[in-house]
Order: sequence, then C-alpha cells, then structure tokens
Amino acid sequence: MTTPLNYTGNKSRLMSQFAEYFPKNIGVFVDLFCGGATVGLNVDAREIIFLDNNHNVINLLKHLSLSDFDVLLSRLEKLISKYGLSYSAKFGYRQYRLGVPREDNNGLKKYNFLGYYKLRSDYNSLKDKASAYALDLLYLLIVYSFNNDMRFNRKGEFNLPVGKTDLNKNNLKKLIQYIDKIKKTNHTFICADFREEKVQKILLNADFIYADPPYLIGDAVYNEMSNWTEKTEQELIGLLEKLNRQGKKFALSNILDKVGASNKPLSDWIFNRTDLHIFDIKYHYKSASYNKINRNAREREVLITNYN
Ligand SMILES: C[S@@+](CC[C@H](N)C(=O)[O-])C[C@H]1O[C@@H](n2cnc3c(N)ncnc32)[C@H](O)[C@@H]1O
Repeated sequence: MTTPLNYTGNKSRLMSQFAEYFPKNIGVFVDLFCGGATVGLNVDAREIIFLDNNHNVINLLKHLSLSDFDVLLSRLEKLISKYGLSYSAKFGYRQYRLGVPREDNNGLKKYNFLGYYKLRSDYNSLKDKASAYALDLLYLLIVYSFNNDMRFNRKGEFNLPVGKTDLNKNNLKKLIQYIDKIKKTNHTFICADFREEKVQKILLNADFIYADPPYLIGDAVYNEMSNWTEKTEQELIGLLEKLNRQGKKFALSNILDKVGASNKPLSDWIFNRTDLHIFDIKYHYKSASYNKINRNAREREVLITNYN
C-alpha cells in the first residue's frame, strides 16, 4: 500500500523486491528514516517503530493515524470550501477546467492558484504547527502542492508552489487505507535524530531495522534541509557497525553510484566484507521531477544487509 504522504523517494514500488530480502516473522521492526512510513506499513511485524527527525512528517503521520476518516473528511471539506479549492473526488474534474484549452497540461493549477497561496500563507503564519488544525492544513497543502510533496525552507515555512492535482479519489483512497491499516498495527511514532542516545537504545531492542537515509549522492527535496554529508554518512555507518556487532539484523537502502558520482564512504565500508550482502534493486522511480532527472543517471541502487 502507499501512504497519504506522497514522499519523494518513497519505497512503495520497491516493496515486492524487499519482501524477498526481509526476514520473516519479525518481532520489533524499526523503520529508521521512515519518511512517509511506506516501508513499516508494508511489513508484517508484531511491533513497528516509525522514526524520522522531521517533526512535521511525524506529527502528520500521527495526526492522521488518530483521525476518524469521516470526521477528518468533513473538516477537510470545510477547508476546501473556505479556500475555494477544487474537489474532484466529489464534484469531478471537468467543471474546474472550463475555459482552459485542451493542450494546457497544468491540471487544476490555475483554478487553485489563489486559494492555494492563501492556504499556504495562513499555514505559515500559524504559531503552533503541531495543532490538529495546522496538520489538517498541512495535509491539504501536500495534496494541492507541486508533485504532492512536502518541502520547508530554513525558516520552517512550507514553500512548494501550487500543483496540478487536488483531493481526488486516489488521495482519498490512500487516506482511508492508511487510517484503516495503521489502526490495526501496534506502532509508535518517534521524532528523533538517528544519533540520539534514546534511538540507539530503541535499535538495540529491535529484531530488525530497515534504514532508508537521505542518499549522499541523491538530490531529493528533504536533502535540502537535512544537511546529509560524508560525516553524517560515516556516523550512520558507525551505528550500523555497532548493530552488526550486537547481532542485530539490518537492511540499508542506498545508491552506490550514479553518473558522475559515487558514495565513497559506503563503498569503502562494504569493500571486501563477507558479512555484508549487496543486492541490486532494479527499479527507477517513476514519479516526481527528481526521478525524471535520475532515470538517465544509471544509478546503482542497492539493499545492503548483514544477514543472508
Ligand atoms: C529517503 S527518505 C525516507 C523515505 C521513506 N523510506 C519512504 O518510503 O517514504 C529519508 C528520511 O530521512 C529523514 N532524516 C534525514 N536526516 C535524519 C536524521 N539525522 N535522523 C533521522 N532522520 C533523518 C528525512 O526527514 C527523510 O524523511
């Protein structure tokens, strides 16, 4: 299943390949660097811990998980009408494109332009971004923004431009599925940096850890804020080494090489190691402009595990 957060780099299309490599009958599973929570939601485990250092992501995942779909939807509908946004799930698509030439491929951008920027500025001026009201606005911002992504500037302001889509049937389906699925799992959301001591304790208590950090040689939107450098990469490698010594099973996603760049710390770490296993992942992401750029970049995407 995919989650309502259409996260850049989300692993939904890779889950069938991961299923071949992930252990079976997992007890405590940690989705480290969980982003949109796709991986944890698609893994069968007794307990799932979602961990990410982006508080907006964690707060939104938590907020949606605690929501009743019908109640949430009626709040969203009020906001859609307040901001004069399109709502194709309920009213169809055509009426919002009246007068727009057929060859125009900007979807609902023109219709939602004014309402979206008002919504964005109202959200950015809220003091408490963790309130239920703010998180409803944030969900709508994602749904109406460019590429349905989530991006904040250094001041913490949501800064994506208006997109082509709206609250359509597909987004509603993802929302229902997420709320339904998450309520059936035994889970915890934790907002923390992977280097924090409390995270190390959590990891040492886990049975299996999947780590999907920002890629050192990637250029997804969350990289703009996360400052992922060679030093951070080394720190993560240090943590994985520690887990390995403690006999904890892990799997790490990453890109080893692409045209013009290679992840040297990672390549050096795995070189000549018989206890680490490298599996090539055969998929080029489809959606988002970032993916279009990388489709021709001949990336070597891998899953690195410390178990067979
Ligand atoms: C590749 S994305 C994860 C995508 C996710 N697996 C999915 O399917 O949606 C990497 C994530 O790492 C998080 N992150 C970046 N630096 C971090 C840090 N120091 N500690 C914890 N999380 C971090 C980012 O917020 C981002 O959500």
